[in-house]
Amino acid sequence: MAFKFILAALSATAALAQLSEPATQCRGYRATNVVQGDSYLSADLVLIANCSVFSKDVEKLKLLVEYQTDTRLHVLIEDADEQVYQIQDRVLPRPKSQNTPANKAALKFNFTQNPFTFKVIRASNGDILFDTSSSPLNFESQYVRLRTNLPQNPYLYGLGEHSDDFRLPTVGYTRTLWNADGAFLPTRSNLYGSHPVYFEHRGNSGTHGVFLLNANGMDVRIDQTDSGQQYLEYNTLGGVLDLYFLAGPEPASVSKQYAEVVGLPAAMPYWTFGFHQCKYGWPNIDHVAEVVANYSAAGIPLETVWGDIDYMDAHRDFTVDPNRFPLDKVRALVDSLHSNNQHYIQILDPGISRNGSYGPYARGEQKGAFLRVADGSDYRGMQWAGQVVWPDWFSPAAQDWWTSEIQAFYDPKTGIDVDGLWNDMNEVSNFCGDTNCFNSQSTAASLPRRPVSRYTRRASPAPKLGLPGRDLFNPKYRINNHLGAIYASTLWTNITNADGSRQYDTHNLYGSMMASASRAALLARRPNKRPFVLTRSSFAGVGRAAAHWFGDNASTWEHYRTSIRQMLAFAAMHAVPMVGSDVCGFNGVAEQYMCARWALLGAFQPFYRNHADITAPDQEFYRWPIVAAAARKAIDVRYRLLDYIYTAVWRASVDGTPAINPLWFWYPGDEATWTVQTQWGLGDSLLISPVVDENSTSVTFYLPKDVWYDFWTGEKVVSAGETKTMGTLDFTDIPVHIRGGSILALRSKSANTTAELRKQNFALTVAPGSDGTAKGFLYLDDGESLDVGNAKSEITFKWDGSVLTAEGTFGYHTDLVIESVTVLGQGEAKKALAKPLSLSKGFTFRP
Ligand code: GLC
Repeated sequence: MAFKFILAALSATAALAQLSEPATQCRGYRATNVVQGDSYLSADLVLIANCSVFSKDVEKLKLLVEYQTDTRLHVLIEDADEQVYQIQDRVLPRPKSQNTPANKAALKFNFTQNPFTFKVIRASNGDILFDTSSSPLNFESQYVRLRTNLPQNPYLYGLGEHSDDFRLPTVGYTRTLWNADGAFLPTRSNLYGSHPVYFEHRGNSGTHGVFLLNANGMDVRIDQTDSGQQYLEYNTLGGVLDLYFLAGPEPASVSKQYAEVVGLPAAMPYWTFGFHQCKYGWPNIDHVAEVVANYSAAGIPLETVWGDIDYMDAHRDFTVDPNRFPLDKVRALVDSLHSNNQHYIQILDPGISRNGSYGPYARGEQKGAFLRVADGSDYRGMQWAGQVVWPDWFSPAAQDWWTSEIQAFYDPKTGIDVDGLWNDMNEVSNFCGDTNCFNSQSTAASLPRRPVSRYTRRASPAPKLGLPGRDLFNPKYRINNHLGAIYASTLWTNITNADGSRQYDTHNLYGSMMASASRAALLARRPNKRPFVLTRSSFAGVGRAAAHWFGDNASTWEHYRTSIRQMLAFAAMHAVPMVGSDVCGFNGVAEQYMCARWALLGAFQPFYRNHADITAPDQEFYRWPIVAAAARKAIDVRYRLLDYIYTAVWRASVDGTPAINPLWFWYPGDEATWTVQTQWGLGDSLLISPVVDENSTSVTFYLPKDVWYDFWTGEKVVSAGETKTMGTLDFTDIPVHIRGGSILALRSKSANTTAELRKQNFALTVAPGSDGTAKGFLYLDDGESLDVGNAKSEITFKWDGSVLTAEGTFGYHTDLVIESVTVLGQGEAKKALAKPLSLSKGFTFRP
């Protein structure tokens, strides 16, 4: 008992000290009533001995193991009474089991009964992927711990959002998942989103994934025991152990299997792949119009201009500042943008001004759209707009109110005809810090004694919406939240949502739910038009609703490099393909040479937006000749490749195929690729290796064993798996290689807008592999319909060494043609075609 007491006492002060070995008396659970079916197994789990390290043991649990598909194993450990919080299906619908017979599944489940421990084993080679045998399971009211042993020196990736190395450290490392404002992207910190999924790569033995569907705050500890045993340990503040094991074995198969669980990412409108310019602090609408004009004058294509909170009256959503951004002028600018085939997006924050005369607040209040506290009054906090309330996305009233406000304010006839929405500060970010500014002057320490909510008096909570009787402010186990206590600078964690669940359990879902609500509102406004929503905060599965940018980075080389690994994680492992960083950096002063490099790097990210803080100097690309030149070249090549990028992101929306590939996804057996984090594969065929150091005009990068072609010169490079150095690289240069065996369908020339680009014909580049053949894929549709029906073309090009064929479906009507075919590596390559090849049907062509 004494040891347990000391452990608990220590926990309050030293977050990391608590992550020691479990208390010795904790012996876990014993499995009884084991029932084994063809494709499932169930059992009861009974606590062996009192343990209660940080809170009260849950004495009776249930185990359900399902062989859901041949590559997906589901292991659910929940409380027998089903009161512990589980993510509601309307937030993230769980995938159904297809009841694969256990003996046909790629993953096996082995267990011991007393104590209950389990292993997940790869059937094909006996590899133990997950093994809880060395440590008892803890399942308490406010603390759940599960540890798996891992092989020495594991290659682990994922567990976003973070700014750490792409391959996660293996010793003394804690990944905290608790959505939090993360200005300047602190390392080893929780950031804006939570994605409790990791990929583990074991070279030629395969790659697998482990997803813990749990929204509670948690520390995932990756470390070694004193005796050197490597492990990964979940330490959550609650919730159930809802685990999905994904068999791969190819890395990209894990990405697809994960997307099947959390939902396929939304298809993006074609125009959103154009170049975006944003800035916090643009003083007025005339200034914005000047920015647009300056881009045009500089000959740099600008697709979309953004409105940050500056457009608002006193920073309130659904208003415009009458002097600086008068409605008629904003409307005129949007009209002019639209007449030039350009676009406009505005920001909406979730903090709603509580000013009585403010219509959106009054209407939301009337509908019951906002979060409330125990006495039924508004839950209040501080945001850009001053004193605010926050929508309760669990309430249908909130969606209803949000949709109607969006429809009214963005009514094309009377309001601002935006093309997309930007959701920010939705972690939630609350400027009140760790004391609440309005509902009470109490200090943080006294908060737990306050009555918690109007729902607390219910006799028993509804199923799966959370155990009663918990300390929702200061759980004894303290996660390593970089903002302090779990309620600091966010919503009180005891707030009750409309369905009876608590912010304690649902905090990490807020941002994703807001993004979904915005998407639904945009769809109500324009049915069957693909909505575009950009969100800062996210949870697993957010890609179904939104794109994501990496938040408030800085204009530093470190964050330039960080943006690459963040993109790798989100697009390849979190099923969010439409991602990118604030190009040239958000905070601080962008230096021109770095900005030029970033303009090039950003052009090869899926989402390409230049954005900066109000305190940062203007950094539009035209402000320096050198950056303007880099941007012109970057956008020119991006636009010629736009259908290639569009196809990659579209394919992610169809089956989860990663649009961005870490190098080891392509060469899983090549150990030299496993830690590469400054290069990436864009789509299936392009390897991008940007300059990554300050004042450098060269880059050293890895070229795996294969045939490659320099994208710019067409020169063939046969690599034996070599580290190469390229220089001298001008500030308008970025090394790009085409992987041998690929066919690229490029637009034959770039254009000023994506609408103009869509009128350009195509040019094929054939880059034969070592066997002389090549293959490529092109997807065509109208670029904007949500449901395109059969009006789409899915074209596969093949080159067998002498003949080029195109086959597939050709449902998208187009008069566009392939104007030229270039076969690389064959001397005089470029072939303009006497008779262009139509893209409206299949063909066979011998150059
Ligand atoms: C947050 C966002 C940033 C935005 C600013 C003002 O810091 O991350 O992108 O410009 O708020 O809205």
